[in-house]
Amino acid sequence: MKRSSYMIAGGVLLCSAAALAGVSLVKGQGAERRAPADTTFSALPRSSGVGFSSLDGVRPGGDWPRLPGRLKGPAQPIFYRHDVHAGQYRIPCLYCHNNAANSWTVNLPSESTCMGCHIVTSAPDTAGNPNAEIAKLRDFYAKSASIPWVRINKLPEYAHFPHMRHVAAGLACQTCHGNIQQMPRVFPVRDLSDMGWCTSCHMQRGVTRDCTACHF
Ligand code: HEC
Ligand code: HEC
Ligand code: HEC
Ligand code: HEC
Ligand code: HEC
Repeated sequence: MKRSSYMIAGGVLLCSAAALAGVSLVKGQGAERRAPADTTFSALPRSSGVGFSSLDGVRPGGDWPRLPGRLKGPAQPIFYRHDVHAGQYRIPCLYCHNNAANSWTVNLPSESTCMGCHIVTSAPDTAGNPNAEIAKLRDFYAKSASIPWVRINKLPEYAHFPHMRHVAAGLACQTCHGNIQQMPRVFPVRDLSDMGWCTSCHMQRGVTRDCTACHF
């Protein structure tokens, strides 16, 4: 599926207004308190804006939070961090993945959703230069180009998964995707392409195991 199909036309100013109205950018406490011992980087200082370009997510020293030398999961074209956005700033998952509750597939945010905030905030360094990764985002946006995000979770074509049914049944995203809000870079916490996993939960919860529910 082409990521470009996720592009939503929308005025940047409208998005900024929505961003300001819908999300209070207060550093989260809850996520840190719940964080298990391995998330040494979950409590982050405000970005100093020191440039970093490595797609491995290795940042230079200084006051940057320490990250493991190698992060799990594929490097992305922009080092977008769920631990900063969904963790530290507690931006709700559905702010960006807004169709998860009413669609089979989940969208990624459009570049204009990102720019709703990043037209304003660029985590500049002391010289006023924007954070290098945010500069990349602005560049994609200026060119009306889609960011070629690398897909992580994908079922084979012959199996179908309705997100909205699972969200409506009250399952947290984390049940299947793990603690995304603590991940500097997204990685799969388990292989989701596992029919036994699907059907055993369905059995426990009395949900259908009719072949044609998932294969059609
Ligand atoms: C500010 C926007 C934003 C917020 C908030 C956000 N995400 Fe994301 N999410 C993205 C972007 C961009 C990607 C693609 C790049 C990547 O994988 O990091 C993504 C990727 C993902 C993926 C991997 C998709 C794949 O290819 O399989 C999952 C799963 C996910 N997000 C879940 C969540 C959950 C759960 C939350 C809330 C805890 C959340 N996201 C909050 C923007 C966001
Ligand atoms: C609701 C507001 C909001 C949205 C939407 C948003 N961001 Fe951010 N982003 C922030 C804030 C706040 C910071 C922290 C800035 C700081 O540290 O001064 C940040 C930081 C960043 C940083 C760099 C700083 C770091 O600590 O790594 C990058 C890169 C970034 N965002 C990319 C994105 C991308 C790509 C998207 C869209 C997928 C996005 N952001 C969507 C608010 C937002
Ligand atoms: C019951 C397990 C389960 C739950 C709960 C769940 N997901 Fe998923 N998610 C999956 C599976 C399975 C896939 C792969 C689907 C496919 O390939 O069709 C996936 C794929 C994704 C993707 C990648 C979609 C794409 O087209 O790139 C995103 C983003 C995502 N999920 C976000 C979320 C968010 C946000 C939530 C919570 C609102 C959530 N998921 C809840 C199992 C789940
Ligand atoms: C953690 C538990 C859990 C896991 C794992 C899970 N499901 Fe579900 N599934 C549910 C629940 C709960 C429902 C909601 C039933 C309802 O709407 O009443 C559901 C509903 C469905 C439905 C709609 C069934 C119908 O009645 O039409 C399909 C299709 C489906 N799941 C496919 C999958 C697939 C494919 C996977 C694995 C990739 C999967 N599920 C993994 C719990 C789970
Ligand atoms: C709840 C969803 C679900 C139900 C119900 C379901 N499947 Fe699947 N099935 C999957 C998923 C997801 C995969 C892909 C992952 C994998 O290969 O295990 C899959 C894979 C398969 C494969 C390919 C396995 C392989 O190793 O290549 C076959 C064959 C299959 N299913 C047959 C069936 C039959 C027959 C039924 C009914 C008795 C059934 N499935 C019921 C979700 C489901």
